[in-house]
Amino acid sequence: MLNVEDFRKLQGEVTEWRRYLHQNPELDYRVHNTARFVTEKLASFGINHIETGIAETGIVALIQGEGGDGPTIGLRADMDALPIVEASNKPWSSKMPGKMHACGHDGHTAMLLGAAKYLATTRNFKGTVALIFQPAEEGALGGLRMVQEGIMDRFSVSQVFGMHNEPGIEVGEFAICDGPILAALDEFDLVVKGKGGHAAAPHETIDPVVIAAQVIVGLQTLVSRSTDPLEALVLSVTMLKGAEAFNIIPDQVEIAGTVRTLVPSLRDFAERQILACAQGIARGYGADVELRYRRHDPVTFNHTAETNLAIKAAGSLVGTGSVNDRVKPQMGSEDFAYMLEARPGAFIFLGNGATASLHNPAYDFNDEALPYGIGYWVHLVESVLAP
Ligand code: NI
Repeated sequence: MLNVEDFRKLQGEVTEWRRYLHQNPELDYRVHNTARFVTEKLASFGINHIETGIAETGIVALIQGEGGDGPTIGLRADMDALPIVEASNKPWSSKMPGKMHACGHDGHTAMLLGAAKYLATTRNFKGTVALIFQPAEEGALGGLRMVQEGIMDRFSVSQVFGMHNEPGIEVGEFAICDGPILAALDEFDLVVKGKGGHAAAPHETIDPVVIAAQVIVGLQTLVSRSTDPLEALVLSVTMLKGAEAFNIIPDQVEIAGTVRTLVPSLRDFAERQILACAQGIARGYGADVELRYRRHDPVTFNHTAETNLAIKAAGSLVGTGSVNDRVKPQMGSEDFAYMLEARPGAFIFLGNGATASLHNPAYDFNDEALPYGIGYWVHLVESVLAP
């Protein structure tokens, strides 16, 4: 069985790719240079089935094994950066002002390229590997668009796998869990509509500020009093806007916030109960409310069989003692969730060591993690598609 030393041979070259991508970050669907870089590398490995321009700048490339017929499995990496001014002080810091690979997608792209090079050379598997490079993971639904543009059917993908680096987990370790691993992400705008007037004559108004204050407190009881304590629900009110002056009672107050859940049915519950709670309070004072509730990423839900395949692949690389197979789910979200809605699969965390946290200006992907990520992809392919 291959161990991590076999993949360290690729580390120097893949580190160069990773640092090139880090210096040249691009946002959302506008990852044109990154996509060109990926396409050129794939072609240089002798991969001849490469489709570009999916979801604008996404790429799917196919590698056929030499072990005969078999299914197609999808391996996914994300390519986009964030609108952050970099403060890592690394020699390979971003050359693009205000843009930065602060989530390690440079590392994810480089690792999938490293695995592609290895797999295209050895082809020690049956069936087909579909390499999925997606744009716009950071809030712009690139994963959803790739699914909507039919990649799963078009390339006959039967299972799909994703990986994300995780600061705070040691390099050389992996973490995963069966079922929900990341939360669904929703946001809401709530307008409390009263009747404005002079701050010195509140009796002639219906003061939406006082009502909004009660609504905000009321919303907190949805979590503490109306949700099963064993089911995670986060409801955070994060924005509040009333009048612009100290002596005006406004006509309305705008409240906005976010809801994170690990159970899909809790999204319906949250939408329904936010309205019912806010409406009940507001109407008691002669005011009313208007709710706009928007659903973004669904729950990233790991399927049992594929989770076990992922645990086995990581375990065969680093030893079972270095794979936490019951990591606590996180309340962040990930648009790989849409791919897991389309096909069974699993999403795993790769240790990034003691680096700054994701989306922090001081963050940098840890190049020591590269051989582990490459090795995971190769072990996964060679075990799931064993001839
Ligand atoms: Ni990310």
